[in-house]
Amino acid sequence: MTSASFIITNLKEAVTLEPLAKENRFTQISNKDLGRQANAWIAVTGQKIVGVGCGEVDSNFKTFANIDGRGCIALPGLIDAHTHPVFAGIRSDEFCRRLDGATYQEIAKQGGGIQSSVKSTAEATDDLLESLIRARMNTFAQHGVTTIEMKSGYGLTVAEELRHLRLIKKIAQNSAQTISATCLALHAVPKDQPSAKKWAEVCARELLPIVRKEGLADAVDAFIETGYFSVNDCALYLETAKQLGLNIRLHVDEFSDSQGAVCAASYGALSADHLQFASPEGILAMASKGVVALLLPGTSLYTSIPYTDSTPFKKAGCAIGLATDFNPGSCPVDNLRLVLTMGALHCKLTMAEAVAAVTWVPARSLRLEGEKGALTIGRDADILIMPLTSCEEFVADLGRTRPAFVFAKGRKIFSPD
Ligand code: NIG
Ligand code: FE
Repeated sequence: MTSASFIITNLKEAVTLEPLAKENRFTQISNKDLGRQANAWIAVTGQKIVGVGCGEVDSNFKTFANIDGRGCIALPGLIDAHTHPVFAGIRSDEFCRRLDGATYQEIAKQGGGIQSSVKSTAEATDDLLESLIRARMNTFAQHGVTTIEMKSGYGLTVAEELRHLRLIKKIAQNSAQTISATCLALHAVPKDQPSAKKWAEVCARELLPIVRKEGLADAVDAFIETGYFSVNDCALYLETAKQLGLNIRLHVDEFSDSQGAVCAASYGALSADHLQFASPEGILAMASKGVVALLLPGTSLYTSIPYTDSTPFKKAGCAIGLATDFNPGSCPVDNLRLVLTMGALHCKLTMAEAVAAVTWVPARSLRLEGEKGALTIGRDADILIMPLTSCEEFVADLGRTRPAFVFAKGRKIFSPD
């Protein structure tokens, strides 16, 4: 832990993203939007940033405890807006079956995939699951992540989904990292349910009202894809979520155009994620409704499916974010800094777009842009200090370099010593 007031000095640069924060803008991002300040310092009191500047330190902060940032750069704490960390068990056998030529969908049809994790997670005690989630949060912290969106979705009964969401809530209550919980009850069709639509109706009638009443999630999610849930299957679930005041995030169009992007826009979703096969019509609809396009290149790497090209999304005027999609089957990648470099390269983002895609834009997708995603006075003191010489080096790093410090709401959550 760090004292209540401290100042990080001698920073080679601070990448503040202040121009975007000032204008509350999430699109048309260029290098000057990074708000880079050379020879910078950042002052913190309690959970908040109270000063950001360059050159001589403001006399107001001269008494603050000093943290020497020599040789380092500062960025906003990273925001991973799509993760599935509530699971037990491993699925490395599936990876090897894919090496032998099976596809992700074929393995799922044969009882593997999500159903396999559902089984091993049901067998795990609360204590085991809690310790697994906490260990995963620590790993995220080591990669500079200060805000994590966490999905349920390996429960797939009302009772198990509630158990997982209650565990997330318990962990969130005493964590320096900020957690945004999402109920992904429509992750796959449970084996004992007659159809996708019936399960979605059970969730709408029995699960979502409890989720709302107990404050267990900020949003709901569904896997809109051939073989999982159609737009029509999800209708009552998504309408109920809206009526209950829950936000919507969606897995869409990962393997085929399932009209998921169109659906995300029509419900005013906060984000639509994956998007490899989103239709031109869906992309335009997302832009017009301000739905963030959240791209997950780690999944493409690990399951050999195409990367999502951000170009049509940018042309249409969508905000673009990047997230890990950390999960036991399609993407055990837990390093958002690796995803940043991969996403820049394969999803075709510029340096500025890539930095915003793991900070400012995902903050927006969680409706946290008032508190997070930029280094400005009054925002949460979520700060990533990297022992690197420039923003260019950060984007090119491929997630190799460990942070020097990671602060979440003013608390040190990682430093190597
Ligand atoms: O986002 N697409 C659905 N869910 C995960 C995969 C989950 C799993 O295979 O366990 C995803 O890729
Ligand atoms: Fe996912």
